[in-house]
Amino acid sequence: MVEFEVKDKMAFPDSYEFDSIINDITNHPKFSLLKEELHHGISRYEHSLRVAHMTYRLSNKFHLDYERATRAALLHDFYLNSETEQYSSSKTLVQHPLIALKNAKEHFDLDMKQENMIESHMFPLSKKVPKHIESWVISFADKFVAIHEMARYKASLMMGIYIIFLFNMITIQK
Ligand SMILES: [Fe+2]
Ligand SMILES: [Fe+2]
Repeated sequence: MVEFEVKDKMAFPDSYEFDSIINDITNHPKFSLLKEELHHGISRYEHSLRVAHMTYRLSNKFHLDYERATRAALLHDFYLNSETEQYSSSKTLVQHPLIALKNAKEHFDLDMKQENMIESHMFPLSKKVPKHIESWVISFADKFVAIHEMARYKASLMMGIYIIFLFNMITIQK
C-alpha cells in the first residue's frame, strides 16, 4: 500500500486498485524526490497524489480511460525545482508540463494520449490544447486541487512567515 502523509480527507487513496495503478511510480527513486519539493505549501508528491486520486475517481465515475488517466495525472508535475531554476516563475508555469513530460517519458512508458494529458494540464495558460476528455479531467482536477491547497496550506504558511517577520521586527526594534 502507498504510504503518504495526508493532511485532510480530500486525498485518501481508498482502494487497492488505485494503489496498484500508481505503485511503480510512487516507488520510483526520482519520483520520490518530489517529497522534498515545496508546492502550494505542501510537497509536490502529495499534490500529485491528490490530483491522481481525484482523476481516478472522476474518470472511473464517467467510465473513461481511468488507468491511463490516473497515471498521467500522477506524472503531470514530475519535475524538480532545480530543473526550472533558469526560468522566471511565469515562464515556469508554461514550461513545467514539458519538463514533466520529458521526465515521465524517460522513466515510464507513455502513449500519445497520456503525453497530451501531461503537456496540456496548464491550458489555457500554456498553448498545448487538451485533445481528450481525460486531459480535460486532469486539467480540471489540477486546478481544483491547487485552489484547495493554496487556500488551506499556503495561506497558513504565509501567515506563519508573516508572524515570524513581525516578531523579528519587534525584537530588532528593542
Ligand atoms: Fe502543473
Ligand atoms: Fe499540478
